[in-house]
Amino acid sequence: MTHMTAAEIRQAFLDFFRSKGHEIVPSAPIVLKNDPTLLFTNAGMNQFKDYFLGNKTAPWKRVADTQKCLRVSGKHNDLEEVGVDTYHHTMFEMLGNWSFGDYFKKEAIEWSWELLTEVYKIPKDRLYATVFEGDASENIPASTIALAKWKELIAEDHIVFGNKKDNFWEMGETGPCGPCTEIHVDCRPDSERALIPGRDLVNKDHPQVIEIWNNVFIQFNRKKDRSLEPLPATHVDTGMGLERLVRVLQGKSSNYDTDIFSGTISKVADITGKKYDGSDTKEAVAFRVLADHIRAIAFTIADGQLPSNTGAGYVIRRILRRAVRYYYTYLDYQQPLLHQLMPGLAKQFEYVFPELQQQIDFVTKVVHKEEEDFLRTIDKGLKRIDTLIKDNQGSVIPGKEVFELYDTYGFPVDLTTLIASEQGLKVDEEAFKAEMQKQKDRAKAASKVDAEDWVVLSENGPVKFVGYTELESTTEVLRYRKVKAKGKEGYQVVLKETPFYAESGGQVGDRGWIDFDGNTVEVIDTKKENDLIIQFTEQLPDEIPTTVKATVNSDLRAKTTVHHSVTHLLHAALRNILGTHVAQKGSLVNEHYLRFDFSHIAKVTDEEIAQIEAIVNNKIRENVPVVIKELPKEEALKLGAMALFGEKYGDVVRVVIMDPNYSVELCGGTHVGRTGELGFFKITSEAAVAAGVRRVEAVSGKAAADFVQDELKQLKTIKEQFKNPKDLVKAIEAVQQESADLKKKLEHLENRMLVGIRNELLKKDEIINGITFIGDIVEVSSADALKKLCFDMKNNLNDYVIVLAANIGGKPAVAIGIADTVVAAKQFDAGKWIKELVAPIVKGGGGGQKNLATAGGQDASNLPKLIELIKQQL
Ligand code: ALA
Repeated sequence: MTHMTAAEIRQAFLDFFRSKGHEIVPSAPIVLKNDPTLLFTNAGMNQFKDYFLGNKTAPWKRVADTQKCLRVSGKHNDLEEVGVDTYHHTMFEMLGNWSFGDYFKKEAIEWSWELLTEVYKIPKDRLYATVFEGDASENIPASTIALAKWKELIAEDHIVFGNKKDNFWEMGETGPCGPCTEIHVDCRPDSERALIPGRDLVNKDHPQVIEIWNNVFIQFNRKKDRSLEPLPATHVDTGMGLERLVRVLQGKSSNYDTDIFSGTISKVADITGKKYDGSDTKEAVAFRVLADHIRAIAFTIADGQLPSNTGAGYVIRRILRRAVRYYYTYLDYQQPLLHQLMPGLAKQFEYVFPELQQQIDFVTKVVHKEEEDFLRTIDKGLKRIDTLIKDNQGSVIPGKEVFELYDTYGFPVDLTTLIASEQGLKVDEEAFKAEMQKQKDRAKAASKVDAEDWVVLSENGPVKFVGYTELESTTEVLRYRKVKAKGKEGYQVVLKETPFYAESGGQVGDRGWIDFDGNTVEVIDTKKENDLIIQFTEQLPDEIPTTVKATVNSDLRAKTTVHHSVTHLLHAALRNILGTHVAQKGSLVNEHYLRFDFSHIAKVTDEEIAQIEAIVNNKIRENVPVVIKELPKEEALKLGAMALFGEKYGDVVRVVIMDPNYSVELCGGTHVGRTGELGFFKITSEAAVAAGVRRVEAVSGKAAADFVQDELKQLKTIKEQFKNPKDLVKAIEAVQQESADLKKKLEHLENRMLVGIRNELLKKDEIINGITFIGDIVEVSSADALKKLCFDMKNNLNDYVIVLAANIGGKPAVAIGIADTVVAAKQFDAGKWIKELVAPIVKGGGGGQKNLATAGGQDASNLPKLIELIKQQL
C-alpha cells in the first residue's frame, strides 16, 4: 500500500497535528508514579488525566504525541493474546491527539478522516466508523453529533452502532470517560470483501478487520460509587496503535512483518539458528513473544522500574520469564538471549525514545542478570510441572503445587497456567491465590489503603504549593476524605495553598500541624496524588471552618532539606569519580539520612569513597550559592541539567544549580541557600541492591555531626578499655597476638593432659559380652577433646565401646566411639544412640557416624546415668 517506513508514518502523524495547531510533547514514562490507580501508562491520555478532571489547567489547548503504553495489568490486559495472535502487544506506541476544552467531535472526526484518507491514503471504502448507540441504564444519550459528522464523510452502510462495551471508553475503575467513535479498517482481499461485507466483521475479532483509531469524547468522571459525574468541560482523547497502523499501511497481514519488529526477529533467528515463518507453530509464537516482550522489558527498565517481586516490578519479571520460557522450550536455546537483543532495539528507537540508548549498558546488565537467575531454576521447574501434569492428567493442578512452583522455582502463576493449558490442564487459581494470600496477608494489611469518595468543600482549585518560601499558610480546605490503612482510620485533606511538601523525588513528605480554629490536628505525612497535594491526619474536627492555618514542622524540614541538597553534591561527585554512566536509580531523603541508588557495576572502594567525600566536603566549604531557576526544559538541558529518566516534566522545569560547572539538576525538592549550611558530609555505608545498582547511605548537617560524635565516643570507650595507649592499632594487634599465642599454648597443654587422661581411662576397661567397655566422666575444656580421646584410644583397643562425658562450664558434652568390628557384628550405631538415648538425657542434640558421634546439651546433672544406659546396650 505504501512505502513509508514506521518512522515516517509516526512522523507524518505528528506533522499533521502540528499543522492543526497542536503542541507535540514527549511520551510520559511508561511506569507511573503518583497514581495509585494504575501501575503503567495504558493510554496516551494518562498523563493528561488532571486536565480532564479540572484539577489542573493545561498549558496548551491542543496536544499530540506518541506514547509508550503497557497493557498487562488492570482493566486493559492483553498478555495472554500476545505472540499467539499477530496484533496484540504488551508495549505499544499510541499515537494521540488531544483537545482540552477546545475543539470537539466535529473537528476530531474530520481530522482523523483527513489524515487516514489524504495523508496515509487508505481507500475510503475500506474504512468503517462505529458510533455509540446510547445506554438507557446509565442515562447516556446516543452520539448524534458524531453520527451526523460521519454521515457527511462516509457511506451510511459503513457506520456501525456500538453499545457501552465497545463505544464508551473508560480509563479504569474510576476516572475520565466518555462515548467514543472507532475507526476500523478492512484489509481483506477484494474477493473476500465481495462475499462478506466488512461491516459484519467490525468488532468481531477478525484478524484482518481491525480497529485502528479510537476517538474518545471525554465528558464524565466515573466515581468510586460507579456514578457518572459530568465534567466542567468536554475534551477529545484519541489513540491510534502505531503497530497496527504501520501494518495496514505497509500492506502486511501481521504486525510482526512490519519494520517495527523485523529487526529483532532476524536477530533472534541469527542467535538461535531458527527461522521465523509467520505461522501458528510454537516456534513462530516464540519469535513473536520475544519481539514483543523485549520492548516492554527494555523501556520499563529504562524508565526506572527494576524487575522485582511486587507491583510494577513483578509485572516486568513476569513478562521477562514468559519470554525466557518461550526461547528455552520452543527455540531450544538455553542461555540468556534477551539481553543480546538490546543494542539493536536501542538503535531502532534512538530518536523516538532516546532513554534506552542512553542507559544501554545498565539495561542490558539488568536483563542479563534476570535471565541468568531464572535459567537457574527453569529446568527443575519445568520438570516439576511435567510430573504434575502426569499426576493430574486431564484435570487441575492443585493450588499448593502452583504456589510451590512460584515460590521455589520462580514460575509466575500465569506462566504455569500457560504451560498447563498447552497440555490441556487447568490450574486451581483460587487455591493458589489462597496460598499466596496466606503468605502476603501481613504485608498486604500493611500497605492496603481503602479510600472513601472525596467530600468536596470548595471547587476553588487548583492547589498551590507555597512551601519553597513559606512554612506557614492561612488557607482553605478544598476537600477531604476518610481512609483506612493498616487497619487504622485516618483522613486525607487537600488545602488550597499548602506549605507542606508532598513526598517526591525521594524527599519524604512534610509533617506538621493544621489548626482548625483552635483545634490543632497533626499532619503525619504529605503525598501527591496526580496533582493534588494530600495532607494525612489521624483525626479531623466535626466542623471544618472556612479558614485554617497550616504549619510545617520546621526542624524536620530543615534536616531533610540538608540531606536533599547534599544528595545533589553527592550525585555530581559520584559521576566525577566513578564515571558518567552513574545515573540515579532511586533515592530517599529524610531528616535522619539520605539513601542514593545508582547504576554502577563494581563495588565502590574505600579509596573512591574517601575521594567522593572529599569532593563533597570541598564543595560545602566553598559555600557556593544554591541557585534555583524555572526555565523551559530545553534551556535547562542546555545548561547541562541531568534529566532524570522516569520523571514527568512539564514544559517549564525547576533547575537547581550548585556551581554551574559542578551540579545542575532538574528537581522539585527543597534546598538550602548556600552549600555551607550543610556543614559536613559523611558516607555511612555502601552496598549492592540489584544487578548493576549500588546504594550509598550518608549523612550531613547535624546528623553528620551526631554520627561522628557517636563514632568518636565508641573509639574513646575502646581506648579506655585498652588503658589509653599511645598507638591504639598497635595495642589491639598486640592483644590479638597474645590471644593467638595463648590458644596455641593451651592446645599444647591439653594435648599433653589428654595423654594422661587416656592412660587412666585405658585402665578402667571392663569386658561385657566380649566387648571392651570404657565409660567415664572426664575433665576437659571442649567437646573436641572428648572426640579426640575416643579417636586416639582406637589404636589401643579392639572390639570396644567408649562413652565419655564432660561438664564444660555447666554444659554437658558427650562422645561415643565404637570399633568398626563391633558396629559390623552387633549393628550398634553411635549416631543413633546419641540421638535416641543421649539427647533426651542432656536435653540437647547431636549426631555423627556409626563409629563416632557427639552430643551437647543443657543439662549436665545425669551424666553417670547416661554412661550406665549405654553400658546396658551391650
Ligand atoms: N484513550 C483512548 C484509548 O486508549 C483513546 O483507546
